[in-house]
Amino acid sequence: MQRNKTIKVKDKTFSVSISERALKRQIKRIAEKINRDYEGQEPVFLAVLNGSFIFAADLLREIDLPCEISFVKLASYEGTSSTGSIREVIGLNIDITGRPVIIVEDIVDTGLTMAHMLETLQKQNPASIDICTLLLKPEKLQVKLDIRYVCMQIPDDFVVGYGLDYDGFGRNTKDIYTII
Ligand code: IMP
Repeated sequence: MQRNKTIKVKDKTFSVSISERALKRQIKRIAEKINRDYEGQEPVFLAVLNGSFIFAADLLREIDLPCEISFVKLASYEGTSSTGSIREVIGLNIDITGRPVIIVEDIVDTGLTMAHMLETLQKQNPASIDICTLLLKPEKLQVKLDIRYVCMQIPDDFVVGYGLDYDGFGRNTKDIYTII
């Protein structure tokens, strides 16, 4: 079916940049790598909401290991500590102690979200933690992050679709679109 080459999300226009087919191909490639790397193990996938919900659904269907999935969110709130904002992982309903964990993220930009997530999860003593991201903007990384699984690297441009949003909208497309 013919799909739109450009879309409007709120006040911005976006042009198609990564097709559904290309996404599926890269997701399959990464899933096969995970299947090999984790052979004999029972990983816990932690999908970071909201952006990763479509990616997680497609990735998991390519995983043939015995595994669990939980959907988590990183919530910030002003605490009473002198450091100000405290970030907490909410929604984690699986005990990850001693378990191999794979974080499923839509996009790593500055890397700060993943750095916080890693720091928080480490406190629960998992056996290991790997990051699996659909997209990575390497030019934007501000922290040293070891990202084992990257489906695609993209330039430093804002993207929407396939779960990713602009101001809450634009998640519901099959392809990914870049701002123009
Ligand atoms: P980081 O902490 O800077 O790595 O930001 C990661 C989060 O920012 C992602 O999980 C997204 O929610 C959001 N984000 C970063 N870049 C984009 C983009 O191009 N489109 C949509 N969301 C983005």
